[in-house]
Amino acid sequence: MLSFGPAAWDADAIVTKDWLRWHQDYDSPNSSLARRLHVVQRDLRRALVEAPYDERGARRLISICAGDGRDVLPVLAEHDGGRTVTALLIERDPTLSQRARTAAIGLGLPGIEVRTADAGATDTYSDSQPAHLLLACGVFGNIIFNDVRRTIAMLRTLVVADGIVIWTRGRTDDGHDPSHDVRACFAEHGFSEMSFTSPADARFRVGMHRLTAHPAAVRSMPPATQMFRFI
Ligand SMILES: C[S@@+](CC[C@H](N)C(=O)[O-])C[C@H]1O[C@@H](n2cnc3c(N)ncnc32)[C@H](O)[C@@H]1O
Repeated sequence: MLSFGPAAWDADAIVTKDWLRWHQDYDSPNSSLARRLHVVQRDLRRALVEAPYDERGARRLISICAGDGRDVLPVLAEHDGGRTVTALLIERDPTLSQRARTAAIGLGLPGIEVRTADAGATDTYSDSQPAHLLLACGVFGNIIFNDVRRTIAMLRTLVVADGIVIWTRGRTDDGHDPSHDVRACFAEHGFSEMSFTSPADARFRVGMHRLTAHPAAVRSMPPATQMFRFI
């Protein structure tokens, strides 16, 4: 099993919302969440074709606030059985993390680490190399916009040049669509949009961006810094 390094973290004290129950909506095939999953997986399949890779032809993937990993793990399995992609899934809830580990084993994926940790803390990534693919699904709707901005700015240090980020954001019932602010923020920070899916009959939006601005020297992640906290 690939190791991205140790990160002991006491999850129990901080879990606030019932994310186990939230995941149950995935089991209703017509739910908005099930439809969103379909789009995220479709985009990830495309990203697995178009993302850069390292000199050995391998890729690293990071999923922040990964839940039970159902968006990522089956797609990696069908792609090439996990031969060329190693993945770090960061999920704070221990039960969901364990489900992701069990799923990875069940799918025979060799290079998956599920870390029960705070994805908002920069120290969680201190031993990780930048990823070729990064998922931030179910994150931006749960944090304040300043944190969205800070997180997107720091994603520049978490993904390689030309790396691809897949993200989600829901619109609200009153017609306000904060996903456009998220898109603007990605553009501001050197990402180019590859796709944006916004079904008229659903609230979810799924974006895919590539880091196309390559600053001469990308700063590394600042230690002991909080990018975001769920509200
Ligand atoms: C909306 S769900 C999204 C799960 C998954 N990404 C998906 O789209 O199916 C948000 C997830 O983030 C996890 N979470 C909340 N705060 C977190 C944090 N600080 N670090 C890591 N995971 C966190 C929750 O436990 C929950 O599983």
